[in-house]
Amino acid sequence: MPTDFLVTTALPEPGMTLLREAGSVLLPDSPLTPSALSEACRSGEFRVVVAQLGDTFDSELLERAAITGISNYAVGVNNIDVASATRRSIIVGNTPGVLTDATADIAMLLILGVARRCVEADQFLRSGKFTGWQPELLLGHDISGKTLGLAGFGRIARATARRAIAFGMEVAFCPRPPGDRRVDDAELGEFAGKVRHLNWPELVETSDFLSLHVPLTDHTRHLVNAEVLQRMKPTAILVNTARGPIVDEQALVQALRDGAIAGAGLDVYEEEPRLAPGLAELPNTVLLPHLGSATVAVRAEMARLCAMNAVAIARGKVPPHAVNPEAWTK
Ligand code: GLV
Ligand code: GLV
Repeated sequence: MPTDFLVTTALPEPGMTLLREAGSVLLPDSPLTPSALSEACRSGEFRVVVAQLGDTFDSELLERAAITGISNYAVGVNNIDVASATRRSIIVGNTPGVLTDATADIAMLLILGVARRCVEADQFLRSGKFTGWQPELLLGHDISGKTLGLAGFGRIARATARRAIAFGMEVAFCPRPPGDRRVDDAELGEFAGKVRHLNWPELVETSDFLSLHVPLTDHTRHLVNAEVLQRMKPTAILVNTARGPIVDEQALVQALRDGAIAGAGLDVYEEEPRLAPGLAELPNTVLLPHLGSATVAVRAEMARLCAMNAVAIARGKVPPHAVNPEAWTK
């Protein structure tokens, strides 16, 4: 009998308890190398892999995999070639919804942190340079009255819009950059009349803060490249809480050095956990280690959803949050 769950990294509670109550669990002592993961998926010894963003399921692995499904401990599934999984009738679960507010909070924190030079100021004080209040000490910029441009208009973008409006910002959005699509009043809902729909070039050129909220796909890889950075306002600040490869990070370092834009707040990186050379030395950046969903309550809720998805898959049921339900109905 195959083991029900191969858990590549222990989930926070209640995740592990839910999995152990529902079936057999293998939790390796140390993280699986890519080849060990591939081997495990091929072996026929496991029904469901409970996976992390750092576990890559490419088409080569999936073509040879003998598993029923993957339950990803994340909302994003860019670590999984979902089209290949679907072809192989491997169902994929994710954890949407529960991390929306926490991630929007981090976007807001980065907006404020860069505009008000929070990290620079903290370092200034801790290094003993604070000698008292001065009229022009570490002046930053207001965010109220400024335009926040949202690339994407999904759950996290909307939660960020809600916060930005409360801070007195003007909000604009482009729903599917670099292209566009129609958004009617029904879809705008509470935002009707409160946010402006712009096309991608307009959003790039008019935003004081440009915040990225699109999934990583072939269409969004390097959405923000050298050319886009050149078209932004020289006073603009780029915020990325989505996925690193949406930004050409080396081009961003250059743009920040040259003053093509004024600053950046990043929670994700193109080659996580590595940073592009020079990025960490730039004072006009706030850099977080991928903390969008990192609150105690959110990580526990993600673990519950992730375990529930895994349990459903092991029982042959379409999980509560399936990315590709068609994998089993096609
Ligand atoms: C985190 O980045 C996630 O996709 O949940
Ligand atoms: C992610 O969950 C999003 O829809 O923005």
